[in-house]
Amino acid sequence: MTGPGKLIRRLGRDDVRLLQQLGSAIRAEQPPLDYCRELLEDPRIYVIAATVGQTGAGWAIAHRRPRWHGGELLLDELDVLEPFRRQGLARAMLTGLRDLARQDGGSELLALTSESNVPAMRLYAACGGTRGQADEALWAWSLDA
Ligand SMILES: CC(C)(COP(=O)(O)OP(=O)(O)OC[C@H]1O[C@@H](n2cnc3c(N)ncnc32)[C@H](O)[C@@H]1OP(=O)(O)O)[C@@H](O)C(=O)NCCC(=O)NCCS
Repeated sequence: MTGPGKLIRRLGRDDVRLLQQLGSAIRAEQPPLDYCRELLEDPRIYVIAATVGQTGAGWAIAHRRPRWHGGELLLDELDVLEPFRRQGLARAMLTGLRDLARQDGGSELLALTSESNVPAMRLYAACGGTRGQADEALWAWSLDA
């Protein structure tokens, strides 16, 4: 894909260690084993990793909604570790996600970010994304008792 030693691929059930390594580097906390297994074993969750040589450099995680009247892929996580930024890894992961989702009959890839996140805004525009309506609003409900 993007250069010597760089690889973009979907992770599977045998990739728990790489997912834990990426989680530790990106979130400064190792994701628990059962969380990693859940992500890697669910066919509707897409975990894409970017590696440079043997090192995890970034991830993109998305989930696909059921196909009936939809099949959209929602982007949950997209991170590239600082030393590996501006080398085309995020673009390549988004392309990989789109290809996989298309093969699986998905209809659209959706990503939510904020206008103040300039790198993400520029990335999504550079990758051909189109913005939703200006008046769209995100609402949240706490599920704490
Ligand atoms: C956003 C992020 C994933 C981009 O990753 P990346 O691998 O550096 O992006 P790419 O190298 O694939 O960039 C592709 C294009 O996006 C745009 N872009 C990416 N980062 C940019 C930045 N910091 N400033 C301006 N444009 C940027 C450019 O058009 C770039 O093409 P170019 O390098 O040829 O100019 C990375 O900065 C990151 O991990 N940020 C912190 C986490 C985050 O905010 N994630 C998004 C959550 S919504």
